[in-house]
Amino acid sequence: MTTQKLRAGVIGCGQGASHGYAYAHAPEFELAAICDLKSDVIDTFFERSRLKRGSVREYTDYQAMLEKEDLDVVSVATPDDYHVNPVCDASNSGVKGVFCEKPLTINLKDADRMIETIERNGTKMSVDHTRSWVPIYQAVRQAVREGEIGELTRIVAHMGGRRSMLFRNGTHLVDAVCYFAEADPVWVIAAHERGFEDYGIEYKGEGGTDPMLDPASTLIIEFDNGTRGIVNIAKMTPAIFELDLLGPNGRYWVTDKHCTVWKTDQPEGSPKEVILPQAGGYGDYFGDTLIPAVQELAMMIWNNSPSSSPARRARNTLEVMLGALTSQSHDSAKVHFPLPRK
Ligand SMILES: NC(=O)c1ccc[n+]([C@@H]2O[C@H](COP(=O)([O-])OP(=O)(O)OC[C@H]3O[C@@H](n4cnc5c(N)ncnc54)[C@H](O)[C@@H]3O)[C@@H](O)[C@H]2O)c1
Repeated sequence: MTTQKLRAGVIGCGQGASHGYAYAHAPEFELAAICDLKSDVIDTFFERSRLKRGSVREYTDYQAMLEKEDLDVVSVATPDDYHVNPVCDASNSGVKGVFCEKPLTINLKDADRMIETIERNGTKMSVDHTRSWVPIYQAVRQAVREGEIGELTRIVAHMGGRRSMLFRNGTHLVDAVCYFAEADPVWVIAAHERGFEDYGIEYKGEGGTDPMLDPASTLIIEFDNGTRGIVNIAKMTPAIFELDLLGPNGRYWVTDKHCTVWKTDQPEGSPKEVILPQAGGYGDYFGDTLIPAVQELAMMIWNNSPSSSPARRARNTLEVMLGALTSQSHDSAKVHFPLPRK
């Protein structure tokens, strides 16, 4: 392992402040530069990232930043419909790693272009489906991998509250289901919340500005290893984020802070609660949870180690959400993957 720090840059300084904070707090990195089109967003970047003005160079043109700064790693935290160009341009400029905000992008053509570009250039890439690096989720995935509850049969997942939107926030829940299933999706069935029956088959990237522009939806997802996900994203419910992982020998119920485990010695028997040491939950400050994510990106670059949140899984997550739109628009019909490319 080299001891030279990796030079990082951030494109998009709203949510990008959490990336700047993480690079500045990870010993593997030097945060060299940031870029946003809007000067007022750059002002708030320094408040939110808790960094001193003058400690990094500021740009309004990311191509100029890529040309001048000799960056090793670039974060892309522009709006959902504007990830594709900065990711591909950064990769083509020769950076070694890219950390892209979720959802990967808004359509499969862009997703394919991003993956084709980074794989051709050998650029390492992670997508900020943040729970991928939260210790409690990692510990549960490891336990499932080790067969603690037998082969995973069902994943029942809930997201609630006013900002329950399939794409903007629901991407975290759909991706968490893919994270635990560890398989490719085969088909999806979906039914949106009332009022969104005619939403259509395209996500236009407007979510986040207004929850009325991005539907809540209930999905059934079949994976190619036989695991089935039941995903309930619903407004007019409490603000929760939780997953129930079920196998013949037990159940893990996991939230952002806590996990409860039930096990049975007899497959399909009556489970009893098991007390386990708890791994850490979601970080308290918004950038804390990204520190292990950027540290992992350094290891991906230096040691060729895998990502906990790879772009290919993020594309599966996007494909499931787009498949859900198609299902809804065909009276909740079963939609098979891969979806046709336009
Ligand atoms: N992981 C999470 O939990 C989480 C939380 C919030 C947002 N996000 C994601 O982060 C991304 C950004 O979200 P946001 O809320 O900060 O959006 P935002 O619209 O508030 O900010 C995006 C910023 O990108 C800038 N930008 C756009 N084009 C640019 C360009 N060509 N060069 C430089 N800057 C450019 C805009 O000026 C804007 O300030 C979205 O994809 C969103 O889904 C993720």
